[in-house]
Amino acid sequence: MSDIFARATSINHDFISRLITPGDKAVDATVGNGHDTIFLANLVGDTGKVYGFDIQDMAIERTKNLLSAHNLSNRVLLIADGHENIDKYIQHPVKVIMFNLGYLPGGDHGIITREETTIAALKKSLSLLTPHGVLSVVVYSRHHGGEREKQAVESFFESIPKTEFHVVKINHLNRLSSSPYIIIAQRND
Ligand SMILES: C[S@@+](CC[C@H](N)C(=O)[O-])C[C@H]1O[C@@H](n2cnc3c(N)ncnc32)[C@H](O)[C@@H]1O
Repeated sequence: MSDIFARATSINHDFISRLITPGDKAVDATVGNGHDTIFLANLVGDTGKVYGFDIQDMAIERTKNLLSAHNLSNRVLLIADGHENIDKYIQHPVKVIMFNLGYLPGGDHGIITREETTIAALKKSLSLLTPHGVLSVVVYSRHHGGEREKQAVESFFESIPKTEFHVVKINHLNRLSSSPYIIIAQRND
């Protein structure tokens, strides 16, 4: 807790933990090793639900095992599909949607999030948020195509009307510009 500013992911968790209450619905759009899925599953409680997307079987399998070890499997629906298809699986409003861009740590570094699918998913995600719901993205740009994806993500968030969403960016000023940082959009009403 005392070192929350050390990593973009821990700053992001700190914000999101203030927003979610038991019974909420949340989405982990990039399950990976399951750290965000577990984090969300703990917050939504037994009456809430987390939907987790990943295109890699390895990510889904690892997270399934992690959830089982933490006794949290009943709170999470893991979906082996791209987040760009989020609207096929979720039609009701959700409180929080989290993205963590890049490749699966400890996995195939060639399987990465991509500009086209990321932007399609972000667009759909905005329209799924509850009033005061939050869309957060931890942006990495060191993977192949990462710089292009980062520019597209920034342009996307810059174009969101301020009358509809508050959009903030949080980065470490004394680190390389390619270091991970956060963009958070909160629906105004
Ligand atoms: C940086 S990792 C996520 C890390 C994860 N949040 C964690 O806590 O371990 C990015 C993940 O996005 C996944 N991914 C890439 N393209 C995707 C897509 N179109 N839909 C869903 N997941 C995707 C990758 O397979 C990878 O596991």
